[in-house]
Amino acid sequence: MSHPLEQLRESALREIDAAGDAQALEAVRVRYLGRNGSISAWGDRMKTLDPEERPVVGRLLNEVRNAVNAAIGQRAEKSRSQQESDSLAKIDISLPGTPQERGSLHPLTQMLDRGIAIFRRMGFALADGPDIETEWHCFDALNTPRDHPARNEQDTFYLPDGRLLRTHTSTVQIRAMQAAPPPIRVIAPGAAYRRDEVDATHSAQFHQIEGLYIDENVSVADLKGTLEFFTRELFGADTAVRFRPHYFPFTEPSFEIDVRSKALKGGEQWVEVAGSGMVHPAVFEEVNKARGDDAYDPEKWTGFAFGLGMDRLAMILFDIPDIRFFAQNDLRFLRQFA
Ligand code: DAH
Repeated sequence: MSHPLEQLRESALREIDAAGDAQALEAVRVRYLGRNGSISAWGDRMKTLDPEERPVVGRLLNEVRNAVNAAIGQRAEKSRSQQESDSLAKIDISLPGTPQERGSLHPLTQMLDRGIAIFRRMGFALADGPDIETEWHCFDALNTPRDHPARNEQDTFYLPDGRLLRTHTSTVQIRAMQAAPPPIRVIAPGAAYRRDEVDATHSAQFHQIEGLYIDENVSVADLKGTLEFFTRELFGADTAVRFRPHYFPFTEPSFEIDVRSKALKGGEQWVEVAGSGMVHPAVFEEVNKARGDDAYDPEKWTGFAFGLGMDRLAMILFDIPDIRFFAQNDLRFLRQFA
């Protein structure tokens, strides 16, 4: 006949084995090992035993308590790992993941960034001006007289207060000179606007990088060197650059700049990329008047300026046949530049 403690151990182990969940297991623990549990009761009963029986029963009590405790721990651990593998089994690891759509920069932004990076390496700082401009910044200050055709109301968008959407970024030349005395070496990337009939090569909004470099003894040679370096960085070392005499009111002499390179339509033709020239003394005078000083003394300072047509550059470089693609937000188009 086994000791009652041994019987308790057996029944406890059986019940632990049968416990279906954590709650049932806890109930078993309380029943046997809780404060009023049937195994715990043997602790109190010790005093009533014969002195010679005590060490034997005491040892047995310890053994039983440890065995039941250990069994409860094992059972708990077993059901925890069972639960874990049950829930893992519900995950189908062969399912494809949720795709994360990644955005990319607009081709025009990429084009502007490339251009800006090259000029920054040459020491040009970034300048900025508003898209909505005064007539003075857009025309008068740039030596463009009242009867010049560019001032025609059909040429740009006028606001009721007389301001207008700038027709070129050359306005920022004036703003930069108003803001600081020479020397100046800035570029101004940004949008320009014209009331053109919209077609494959004309848009009401387009983008330019304006450049302005004013110092003592600046010459046409500096202008040529700067733009040759720029276009070669952009289109490759084989790029040939041609300066064609032209007319702009705010420069004298003035040039249109053509390039030819394998990167552009296979190098078969000259492609016009910019207007440029030496800043007209009348522009300096007008800026001085606005500044109220003689900072831009045309006897002391000379400078060159240029305006690059960035939509056009992007179109020939990326082989884009229609300027309207830039503004249509068609993902099939935009994804090609991701
Ligand atoms: N502003 C002119 C245009 O939009 C381009 C231009 C020509 C800019 C000559 C210049 C320049 O800075 O010197 O057609």
